[in-house]
Amino acid sequence: MHKTGSNIELAADYIRAGKLVAFPTETVYGLGADALNPLAVARIFELKERPSFDPLIVHVADKKDLDKLITAADERVYRLIDKFWPGPLTIILPKSDIVPDIVTSGLTTVGIRMPDNEIALELIQKAGCPIAAPSANKFGRISPTSAGHVKKQLPDVDYILDGGSTTVGIESTIIAISGRGFQILRNGIITREELEEVLPFDDEIRTENVVAPGMLKSHYSPSKMMVIANAVNLKGIDKSRAGLLSFSGKLEGGFGKVVRVSVNEELKAYAVNMFAAMHDLEESDVDLIVAEPVPETGIGMAIMDRLKKAAYRL
Ligand code: TXA
Ligand code: MG
Repeated sequence: MHKTGSNIELAADYIRAGKLVAFPTETVYGLGADALNPLAVARIFELKERPSFDPLIVHVADKKDLDKLITAADERVYRLIDKFWPGPLTIILPKSDIVPDIVTSGLTTVGIRMPDNEIALELIQKAGCPIAAPSANKFGRISPTSAGHVKKQLPDVDYILDGGSTTVGIESTIIAISGRGFQILRNGIITREELEEVLPFDDEIRTENVVAPGMLKSHYSPSKMMVIANAVNLKGIDKSRAGLLSFSGKLEGGFGKVVRVSVNEELKAYAVNMFAAMHDLEESDVDLIVAEPVPETGIGMAIMDRLKKAAYRL
């Protein structure tokens, strides 16, 4: 049924025809459609089983394409994109009329980024339109970092553009701009400290901010029970039936399966490999997935965000 390949021309034809194409970015694979075609975008929600209140990110191939999609940007926004685009930074800005409401779930703002991936950029250029794309997984499930991961969850997508494994491994940092500076809506590999080199961090909690499902407590979940290791739960489980996402190497004894997610406790490498490790353990014959926590500093914040949401159970 599905088609996987590396034909960018064909993928661009599909996008122009209102079909859905899964494509690589530097972060995770996206499930893309012509962002200016509401019917095509509607199919994203359908295929992903995503609730309609959860807005999509729009991907552009050129910094200049930003201006058509928004009503206003001040010099702070241009300073941010000069430094971080192409790259894993999504900026939430007031949308222009050409962006259909279905893309933004009726919000007056739109999230935009320019991915740092040659295949993605060429696809957007050839399609001749901005591409709306959430991560190419079923809603709430583990994000895909390879074409194979997409195929497993979304066999009915029209085309999977295979660009190998992604190089960052976790989704973009999402920020909103306020009068005081920037707020982080989702942590990613671009950290608060790096952003602070360009703009001040606004630490005022703004309750009117939309609660995006990326911020819900449960997300990124494997089909198997997952817990974050601590002294108490490690005593109570049958390790021989469990798989470990290992960070330091210290907890590995007795586990039925171990995936060392990074070498030398390197957080960047952990981010690159973590979703693939979760997919591996989901497919293996263990009953339980145990994740060793990582330090919550820098990129560790983004990693622990995802582990906590993947492990969350009522
Ligand atoms: O790295 C990424 O960002 C990947 C690749 C494919 O670009 N995309 C991605 O999309 O992670 P998705 O849909 O899985 O997560 C996007 C998050 C959602 O939680 C959504 O609610 C939030 O961005 N979002 C999008 N537009 C927004 C807006 N206008 N205001 C607030 N949140 C928004
Ligand atoms: Mg997602």
